[in-house]
Amino acid sequence: MSNNQDQVAIVAGGAQNLGEHLSYRLAKEGYKVVVADLNFDNASQVAETIMQDYDTDALAVEVDVANEEKVTAMVEQVRERFDRIDVLVFNAGVAKSTKITSFELADWQSMVNVNLTGYFLCAREVAKVMVEQGSGNIIQINSKSGKVGSKHNAGYSSSKFGGVGLTQSLALDLAEHGVRVNSIMPGNLLKSPMFQSLIPSYAKKLGIAEDEVEKVYEEKVPMKRGCSYEDVANAVVFYASDQAAYMTGQSINVTGGQVMH
Ligand SMILES: NC(=O)c1ccc[n+]([C@@H]2O[C@H](COP(=O)([O-])OP(=O)(O)OC[C@H]3O[C@@H](n4cnc5c(N)ncnc54)[C@H](O)[C@@H]3O)[C@@H](O)[C@H]2O)c1
Repeated sequence: MSNNQDQVAIVAGGAQNLGEHLSYRLAKEGYKVVVADLNFDNASQVAETIMQDYDTDALAVEVDVANEEKVTAMVEQVRERFDRIDVLVFNAGVAKSTKITSFELADWQSMVNVNLTGYFLCAREVAKVMVEQGSGNIIQINSKSGKVGSKHNAGYSSSKFGGVGLTQSLALDLAEHGVRVNSIMPGNLLKSPMFQSLIPSYAKKLGIAEDEVEKVYEEKVPMKRGCSYEDVANAVVFYASDQAAYMTGQSINVTGGQVMH
């Protein structure tokens, strides 16, 4: 029996792809999982699957992470149901790739709103509960683009760089309360719909055919493969555990050696 069975984890943006995988992995590790997402239908399906296939409880919550009232309501709903929050995985994210000279302000704002302001709002509201408890873990899913600039990705990269500053500042605010705050910087999840949606723009920026893009991105990685959902899940489970008890304010690369600082 896992020793996490009394612990509650929220996955903000947990309804599909990486977030869905993280929700199942946390369920497998014994956490009660709150699948919080803009897409309530998908979130409900993921929560259903957890209750059917894993020996733990789950709750689906509809939330727009960029909306202060909705985030406050989400945390209230989780408290009513489970009365505690041990882990927040902030996974929600949006990405749109365009060269700076044609970058729309609306696209910039949507990436900053979801990727950065959303992280701030969710972390702030969850931190209130964790400070009261005197324990907790906040884990942001960032990106290697939060460590190094990314061509045609000014909005995404800037919003993710901001997340590093937020993680470090939250870690400083919360250390005395027994709350740790860390970021994970995955490399390209080549098979994910998010990466696949960027392929036309990447083919254009590299001047190659669309079906050559994945190979080029694989070749950039010293370990010669894209990042997998499970690579990220392993880092999440580690950060959430006591194995990482002396780690806070960190932004750890999970990039097959592509980024080393
Ligand atoms: N796909 C990649 O190659 C890659 C690489 C590195 C980092 N990441 C990061 O990993 C995370 C997940 O990526 P993914 O590829 O699974 O993306 P995805 O678009 O498939 O999933 C993102 C999830 O966030 C939810 N979401 C979006 N806006 C929201 C909002 N305002 N409120 C609540 N939920 C919202 C979506 O509904 C969706 O379920 C993101 O933070 C992304 O930046 C992705």
